[in-house]
Amino acid sequence: CSSFTVFFVCLFVLHVVHFNGIKLRVETTLPSVFTLRGSNVTLPCRFWYEPPLNSPRSVRVKWSWSPITGDREVDVLVAIGHHQRSFGDFKNRVYLQHDLPGDTALVITNVSMSDTGQYRCEIIDGLEDESVTVDLELRGAGSVVFPYQPQNGRYHLTFPEARQVCEEQDAMVATSDQLYMAWQEGLDWCNAGWLADGTVQYPINLPRYPCGGLGLAPGVRSYGPRHKHLHRYDVFCFSSSLRGRVYYLEHAQKFNFTEAIQACIEDDTQIAKVGHLFAAWKFLGLDRCDAGWLADGSVRYPITTPRLNCGPHKRGVRSFGFPSPYYKYGVYCYSSR
Ligand SMILES: *[C@@H]1O[C@H](CO)[C@@H](O)[C@H](O)[C@H]1NC(C)=O
Ligand SMILES: *[C@@H]1O[C@H](CO)[C@@H](O)[C@H](O)[C@H]1NC(C)=O
Ligand SMILES: *[C@@H]1O[C@H](CO)[C@@H](O)[C@H](O)[C@H]1NC(C)=O
Repeated sequence: CSSFTVFFVCLFVLHVVHFNGIKLRVETTLPSVFTLRGSNVTLPCRFWYEPPLNSPRSVRVKWSWSPITGDREVDVLVAIGHHQRSFGDFKNRVYLQHDLPGDTALVITNVSMSDTGQYRCEIIDGLEDESVTVDLELRGAGSVVFPYQPQNGRYHLTFPEARQVCEEQDAMVATSDQLYMAWQEGLDWCNAGWLADGTVQYPINLPRYPCGGLGLAPGVRSYGPRHKHLHRYDVFCFSSSLRGRVYYLEHAQKFNFTEAIQACIEDDTQIAKVGHLFAAWKFLGLDRCDAGWLADGSVRYPITTPRLNCGPHKRGVRSFGFPSPYYKYGVYCYSSR
């Protein structure tokens, strides 16, 4: 193995010798899986050898996960033979399907919004190590996207802060796909917001000044990727259909903000989050022409049937912004039962 060319030939020979010419193959039949919150989902993955082996070999199966925002990879499950171990938030919620030889599909029960992201199915056989990825998304009929601006005003959120405020509203940062679908359903918003891939975009259905002007066609406008720590924008959050109920608390008096929180507790529930109200508006048709406090200190109300004296003539969750906590309004409560 002296010359350059021969060196590579030698490596190739070594490789063949090492694995006896047997190749480990891993595949998934669905690179993207869509599901709804609370359901059980199966992420397909299987492996085999070429040519097929006469006797089965012991392999290690490892599933790991990185969130949509893609900044870390954590272990989900490790299995050797029929011994399985799950980790972290996935503990006792995931298992391998094992229906057929080589089947290493991952079953996740009671899927939550924070389970979305990219899953890696990795098969480790001695020195060989092959993997495929499967994206898990919640969407379709089960998703609602809403712009979020915090109390301190427009364009105040770095990307990590954007993630946090969405989570505080029982939501996640929306993906570009989700924003695009929301735009197709009529979302029109003139402030740019973070999306899960670190880009900043905004959806316009009615071109106008100053939202890019009249010259541009309707569409989702993108500023492209922005610096996650230095640049500040609003955010588009995504929430999915939810179990439980959201309701306007019937009461003779109106409440200041602290009384509102207390009133829901006294009703054996909790003050609703913004994500709860959007989900109830979209999926449960909540329609109420009374402004009510929400957990973040904003005041909003949901309209599915536009009518006189209930804001603009279109469906939507109307916002009064963040009034002084001394002001009196109704309250929306949420119960998971
Ligand atoms: C999900 O799977 C668990 C355990 O495998 C089962 O008890 C539960 O009924 C399933 N839930 C749904 C919604 O299918
Ligand atoms: C499903 O997960 C939610 C939290 O995401 C939890 O509140 C609920 O109790 C879980 N349901 C079951 C049947 O484990
Ligand atoms: C709300 O009203 C209560 C009295 O019912 C008062 O103690 C509290 O300070 C008020 N809080 C705010 C934020 O106005």
